[in-house]
Amino acid sequence: MSEQQTTVTAPKIPAGLLAEQVTEVQHYTDRLFRFRVTRPQSLRFRSGEFVMIGLPGAEKPVMRAYSIASPSWDEQLEFFSIKVPGGPLTENLQKIKPGDQILLRPKPTGTLVNDALLPGKRLFCLSTGTGFAPFASLIRDPETYEKFEQVVVTHTCRTRDELKYSYDTVKSTLEDPLVGEFAQGRLLHFASATREPAEHAGRITTLIQTGEFFRTLNIPPLDPAFDRIMLCGSMGMIRDVRTIIEPMGFVEGSNNAPGSFVVERAFVG
Ligand code: A2P
Repeated sequence: MSEQQTTVTAPKIPAGLLAEQVTEVQHYTDRLFRFRVTRPQSLRFRSGEFVMIGLPGAEKPVMRAYSIASPSWDEQLEFFSIKVPGGPLTENLQKIKPGDQILLRPKPTGTLVNDALLPGKRLFCLSTGTGFAPFASLIRDPETYEKFEQVVVTHTCRTRDELKYSYDTVKSTLEDPLVGEFAQGRLLHFASATREPAEHAGRITTLIQTGEFFRTLNIPPLDPAFDRIMLCGSMGMIRDVRTIIEPMGFVEGSNNAPGSFVVERAFVG
């Protein structure tokens, strides 16, 4: 990609990138935060996709894949980010304030989209940490409820306060004037913490295997005939869920060849 050669004093915006303004920042813990930015008018995306984002000021800015956490109808873009001490992007990204600029490559892509799944009745969205972000978009998209009768979203983190983003997002989804009526009674949320006592404690893999997950939600166990699964989160969680669901008959899908489960490979947790 060619770099723009200019001598203006404002930070240069490299070719192919857009500068968007930060409108809101919310810190949950010393490891997680959420922020919103203005949305380029031209940006169209499917709920569940990711874009590359970075910070202005460098000739070759560090760009990282970030799932868009807001639904496609939202006027702004929302992101849910980890803070990595000394991380090439997040060390500085975590310091952004309203009015600051971020860089965005407006080419959304990704596999956590309804199109990569075969038709089904129940959609299970399983996440750890910031892997909840694409599901924050999908559960707020009316199309998800047109395609599935029931949507079950899970979020597992180390501590209870790391779960606040999913609790808040599910609550605002159910109360939303646009999506609330679709989601009421059909959107189920299951949040668990692994390193301190919580209402639900333990890894989602363990809770699926013991059946506690299904008993708690009072729903039947997984069935590849009519269930579809999306996975986003730690490599270990994705590997271990795969080990559970593939022997059951779930087959991985992609945009070109829809299947019964999909995984976000670009996600870096
Ligand atoms: P645990 O605390 O037992 O490692 P992280 O903060 O390291 O990204 O982890 C996010 C969450 O993902 C944690 O609750 C962690 O549980 C969980 N996790 C990590 N590895 C796995 C795995 N292989 N299967 C299921 N959950 C996992």
